[in-house]
Amino acid sequence: MTTVTIQAGQTHGARGAVADTGGGSRTSASARTSIVALSDVEKVYRTDRIETVALSQISLDVQAGEFVSVMGPSGCGKSTLLNIVGLLDTPSRGRVTINGTPVTDASDRVLARLRNREVGFVFQTFHLVPDLRVIDNVEIPLLYRSMPGSDRRQAARDALERVGLAARMHHFPSQLSGGQQQRVAIARAIVGRPSLLLADEPTGNLDSQMGDEIMGILLDLQQREGTTIVMVTHDQRQADRTERIIRLFDGRLVQ
Ligand SMILES: Nc1ncnc2c1ncn2[C@@H]1O[C@H](COP(=O)(O)OP(=O)(O)OP(=O)(O)O)[C@@H](O)[C@H]1O
Ligand SMILES: [Mg+2]
Repeated sequence: MTTVTIQAGQTHGARGAVADTGGGSRTSASARTSIVALSDVEKVYRTDRIETVALSQISLDVQAGEFVSVMGPSGCGKSTLLNIVGLLDTPSRGRVTINGTPVTDASDRVLARLRNREVGFVFQTFHLVPDLRVIDNVEIPLLYRSMPGSDRRQAARDALERVGLAARMHHFPSQLSGGQQQRVAIARAIVGRPSLLLADEPTGNLDSQMGDEIMGILLDLQQREGTTIVMVTHDQRQADRTERIIRLFDGRLVQ
């Protein structure tokens, strides 16, 4: 097991996250750098009548190369947390740093670049474009980069190969099983080689065998490519395969 650094006030999980002893099997903690840093993050949703505190006093660090699960009951703020880390939403207060860049006051240009270059997002419900073939779906994130079409194609092919779906590249999403669609979504999330992969219940809509397959791909990405992964899951069995579990309850980290 790799060592992980636990900050005060932060939870750890079933794999027995330990205090840093510097004796990690793959990378020593001292060699790791923080890729996600949240400091005292709060998120309040306000509608006409109701104020919902979705997140409160969240401080946490995710180190480069770590695979972390986020667990907790429905409505506890897991997706809100992931959306903030993935720069799809902004906190009401607190500081967020992604790969060394403080994002709280960053310009839209900087945010867009970080979102496109550093972060890959996998959603529970895949979010593939139904009218586009698999290969064209996977190419989407690269359209925002100045890159020759042939290089884009090759990168998309490589990503599909990575998830074992090269043979399906000319299919439409509706012609694939749920597990295959999720694999396409993972290929799309990794095609731009992001340093950080965020997955919101990526196995939530799949049976356990498909779920295992998706977990296998994520673990392989972490181990072979060094991709940092933060995954929301309700599945204790899948969470147990990751290095650390962060637990949320009512918007707060719990021990
Ligand atoms: N856009 C919004 N406007 C108002 N309230 C919101 C909004 N999005 C989320 N919330 C509220 O914030 C809280 C946290 O929601 P969130 O979606 O993060 O929960 P979750 O842990 O992902 O739940 P689930 O396991 O059901 O997906 C909930 O009480 C929810 O109702
Ligand atoms: Mg959610």
